Amino acid sequence: MASKLLVDIHTHVYLPRYASLLRSRTSVPFIRSSTSRDGKLDERLLILDHEPSGGRPVGPQYWDRDEKLQFMDKHGIDVSVVSTANPWLDFLPASQASTLAKELNEDLEQYCSDSPILPNAPIKRLYGFGLLPLVPEITTKSLLDTVEQISKLPHLRGLIIGTQGVGKGLDDEALDPVWTAIEAAGLVVFIHPHYGVDNKAWGDKDNGHVLPLALGFPFETTIATTRLILSGVLDRFPSLRLLLAHSGGALPQLSSRLASCIDHDPVVASRLKHDARYYLGKLYLDAVAYGPEELGFASDVIARSGRYQTGASVTGPAVRSLGSQRMLFGTDHPFFPPLNSTEKWKSVVENLDAIDAVQGWTQTDRDGVRGGNAVALFNLVG
Ligand code: URA
Ligand code: ZN
Repeated sequence: MASKLLVDIHTHVYLPRYASLLRSRTSVPFIRSSTSRDGKLDERLLILDHEPSGGRPVGPQYWDRDEKLQFMDKHGIDVSVVSTANPWLDFLPASQASTLAKELNEDLEQYCSDSPILPNAPIKRLYGFGLLPLVPEITTKSLLDTVEQISKLPHLRGLIIGTQGVGKGLDDEALDPVWTAIEAAGLVVFIHPHYGVDNKAWGDKDNGHVLPLALGFPFETTIATTRLILSGVLDRFPSLRLLLAHSGGALPQLSSRLASCIDHDPVVASRLKHDARYYLGKLYLDAVAYGPEELGFASDVIARSGRYQTGASVTGPAVRSLGSQRMLFGTDHPFFPPLNSTEKWKSVVENLDAIDAVQGWTQTDRDGVRGGNAVALFNLVG
């Protein structure tokens, strides 16, 4: 039964406590509230530095648990592993980030533990990724205490992080004690972008959110993960379970080029234990890529990493199947709502259709990506 579930592992919330904080602010990130002429409350979310069009409309779909459950019902989603949306606590001073992380982790535990039990399977409909106070000047103790807190909250099965670390990125050695604790606790680390890349690259034309979201976000994840690989984090913490947003961005496409650049660079040529492509096989990717060709390609690249682990060449139809085992369905809800009212959200339907259409994936592979892989990764067994 559990292997046939549809599980959404990329789905966000701004918990009420967090939404209140955003409402209390007047600079990015914040929620701007106004009343329209007909007396309706109009709330806009401004979280990016150059937020186009006066901000995105926000409403209860961002914080109300019933709305999350209704969205899940509408799309046949059995279970969601929910995470706070960007920019998390990145903009707060250390003491406030530390307190708020603890409070939001408790809030999220409550949000999940009060959720309904799935009919026919003794598990809840909601699980969560906790938050760490990853900000400059935070103490290692505060980070470790929060890892411990998350590991003890029964419905939190991982944590979501951005790419800033404590100010110097995720390849900062200061994070080694944190990786040690996360690895020991068996928590899944969901790496998610927020900052994109230098806005100057987008030029002067008004292209809405397209360039920062379609390109900036995945490039950011690509860079952060590549820096992790280059710094040897995956050599030092071989059991770390990293889940990359948006199917790993451009990393699957660029991993052989990365391997070649490493091989030809005297600074790093002998730094890593393995060929760079080996590390792709240690990652988990969400299946938020919107197209079957992209999912198929990413699964090939993941499976190919086996060649760099065992030396044996991996070929034939089984290759794609192998790679599919590290890919997991997601929606990015409540972002990407349809512009015109439709029964189902295109962003969800496209990702489900893509999973159905990957050439070479068997029905077992599709069931795995739809939910079976999440059941295993997050130990959703009741
Ligand atoms: N836009 C965001 O700001 N965050 C997401 O996760 C998706 C879209
Ligand atoms: Zn997201």
